[in-house]
Amino acid sequence: METMKRTTTCGALQKTDAGKTVTLNGWVHRKRDHGGISFINLRDRYGITQVVIDSDAPAELTAISAELRNEFCIAVEGTVRTRPDSMVNPDMPTGEIEVVAKKLNILNRSEVLPFQVDDESEAKEELRLTYRYLDLRSAGMQRRIKLRNDVAFAVREWMTGQGFYEIETPTFIKSTPEGARDYLVPSRLYPGKFYALPQSPQLYKQILMVGGFDKYFQIARCYRDEDARGDRQPEFTQIDIEMSFVSRNDILAMTEGLMGYVFKKALGKTIPPHFTRLTYEDAMERYGSDKPDLRFDMQMQDFAPYVAEGGFQAFKDALAAGEADKVAAAAKGITLAGGGVKVLVVPGKADYSRKQIEELEAQAKIYKAKGLAWMKVAGTDTVPTLEGGVAKFFAGGEPAGSAQKICAGLAAKPGDLILLVADAQRKIANIALGAVRSKLGRDLGLTGPGPDGKARFEFAWIVDFPLFEFNDEENRWEAAHHMFSMPQEKYHATLEQDPGSVLGDLYDLVLNGYELASGSIRIHDPVLQKRIFNIVGFDPADAEQKFGFLTEAFKYGAPPHGGIAPGLDRLVMLMAGETSIKEVIAFPKNSFAVSPMDKAPSEVDQKQLDELHLSIVHEPTEPPKKE
Ligand code: AMO
Ligand code: AMP
Repeated sequence: METMKRTTTCGALQKTDAGKTVTLNGWVHRKRDHGGISFINLRDRYGITQVVIDSDAPAELTAISAELRNEFCIAVEGTVRTRPDSMVNPDMPTGEIEVVAKKLNILNRSEVLPFQVDDESEAKEELRLTYRYLDLRSAGMQRRIKLRNDVAFAVREWMTGQGFYEIETPTFIKSTPEGARDYLVPSRLYPGKFYALPQSPQLYKQILMVGGFDKYFQIARCYRDEDARGDRQPEFTQIDIEMSFVSRNDILAMTEGLMGYVFKKALGKTIPPHFTRLTYEDAMERYGSDKPDLRFDMQMQDFAPYVAEGGFQAFKDALAAGEADKVAAAAKGITLAGGGVKVLVVPGKADYSRKQIEELEAQAKIYKAKGLAWMKVAGTDTVPTLEGGVAKFFAGGEPAGSAQKICAGLAAKPGDLILLVADAQRKIANIALGAVRSKLGRDLGLTGPGPDGKARFEFAWIVDFPLFEFNDEENRWEAAHHMFSMPQEKYHATLEQDPGSVLGDLYDLVLNGYELASGSIRIHDPVLQKRIFNIVGFDPADAEQKFGFLTEAFKYGAPPHGGIAPGLDRLVMLMAGETSIKEVIAFPKNSFAVSPMDKAPSEVDQKQLDELHLSIVHEPTEPPKKE
C-alpha cells in the first residue's frame, strides 16, 4: 500500500490554497453521506479539514469511502477548493475550503469505539483512562497537553534567562521521612535494602547549594504514597527551585516574575506583578483557610464582642472553655489561642431556606463544628432587626439596640444572612466557618468568570506559618512544612520551650483557593538542624542515621539558602480552568492509584521476586476504599 505521506496538516489550508493538490493524513472525525456525496471531517493535532467525495468520484474511491468509520486512520490526496458562500463555516479555521478527494488510503482501521472522541462525550473517567489514547485525541485533552507543554517550556525559558541551571537529581534515593509515605524500590544487589522514590528533591537541592550551584531549578517528578484526590496524584511534577544568599522576599519576587512570564507566554494573560500577602494568622482569621479563594471577598469577622451581652449559652460556654484551656496552658509556658465565635455575613441571602442552611451546617460539621447558628437581618437600613435562629438571644429582651449594634459592627444589612460557629478551639471555629465560606463561594457562583467572561486568577502569598503542628494521635510535635525550614530569628532562643508559638520563614503561594507552591528559607546550621530533629522526636542516633549526610554537608561552609516548589500539575489545571489534575496529565492514576490502561500495579513473576529477595506474605486484598 502506498504511504501517501502528508504534505500539509488538517489545520492549515486557507482560501489562498485553492487549486493546490495536497495530501492529508489523519483520523475520520465524522462522516456524513448526502445523496451520493460524502463529507469526511478529517482530524489531526492541528485541526479539522473537510474532505469531499463528489458524486462523480471514481467507483474505487466511493468503495473505499463506504468502508470508513469514525477513527479510521486514513490518507487523502485531493485538490483544495473554496466552499460556496452558503457552505462556509466561520467556526472552523479551515472553514472556507474543502479538499476534493482523488485518492484515499486506509492506513489503519478502528474497532467499534468504546466512546465518541469528542469533548461532549460523557464517558466515565474509568473508561477514559482505560482507553486513554482515544481520550487523548479529544480536542480538550489535546488543548490541555499543549498548554502543559507551553507552560513547561516557558518555565525553562524564564528560569534559564534568569541564570538558573536545570540539574537532575536521582530518583533512587535513601528513604528519609518527609511527610508522606515513601514508594520503595527493593535492591537486587543488597538483600533487604531499599531505595526510595523521592517525595521531592528537597535534600538534594539543598546539597546542590552546598555544592555551589546558587540558582537551581528542575521540572522534577515526585512520588508520594498517599490517597489520590482531585488535586493530588501519587506521582506528580514540581517546578523545584532553590537559591543561595537570598531572603524570603527575593524568592517571592522571583516566583512572581516566573508566574507573570508563564501566564503571559502560555495564556496571553497579564497578571499583577505582585501578589497580595497575608499572614497565616490573618488568612485563618479572615478566610478560615491557609489557601483562601480570593476571587470573592466575604470575610469572616469576630463575634466574641457581642457574646457577653447576648443570652446564647453555647457561645458563652465555648469562650469560657477556651479561656480556661488558655490559662492552664499558659501556666506551662505554652501559648494557646483560646476559644472563638466567628461570623460570616452573607449579603442578600436572608431568603435561604432551612434546608439550605442545614446543608451549610453539615459542611461545618465535617470540620468539627458543633453546629452552625444563624439569624437573618430584617428591618430597615437605619433600624435593622434580627430574626430567626438564634436572633432571640441577641434581639428581644436584650440590652436595647443590641441588634442595631451587631448589624452596624458587622456591616450587615436587611436581607443578609448571618452564620456563626463557636468553639473552645478558635482554630475549629475558623476552619469550620471557612469551609462554609468556600461552599457558599461555589453555591453562589462567586468563583466564576469576571465581567469580561474570562477566568479570573487571584494569587496570594501566605507567610509566617507556624513551624510546628501538634500531632494529637502521636502526641508529638511535627514539622508543619518539612524539617528543614528556618524558624524566624526571634524564636531561636526559645524553640524547645513553646514549639507551638514558633513562626517559620515559610511561605505558600495560593491561587484561586488551591495551594500552588510551598517553600521556605532553610536551616543551614547543623546545630539548629539537630535541635529541630530533636523537637519533632528524632533521637540523635536516628537523626544521624537518616539525615547524617545533610548535617555533615552543612559542616563545610553551607551557604544560607531557600527555595520553593510550585506544583506543575496544579498550575496547568488552574490555567486550564479544570478541577482535577488528571485532566492535565497524559497518563494519570485513578483514585485508587491504579492505571486502568496498563493495569499497574500488577503482580510480578516469582523469579523477579526471588531476584529481589522478596516474598509476599499477604494474599492480594480488595482495592482500598475511596476516602
Ligand atoms: P510540598 O510538599 O508543599 O513542598 O509540595 C509543593 C507543591 O507540590 C504540589 N503537590 C502535589 N501535586 C500533585 N499531587 C500531589 N500529591 C502533590 N503534593 C504536592 C503542590 C504543592 O504546593 N520540597 C518542598 C518544597 C520546598 O520547600 O521547596 C515540597 O515538596 O502544588
Ligand atoms: P441548640 O441550643 O443546641 O439547640 O442550638 C441552637 C442552634 O445553635 C443550632 O442551629 C445549632 O446548630 C447552633 N449551635 C449549637 N452550638 C453551636 C456552636 N458551638 N457554634 C455554632 N452554632 C451552634
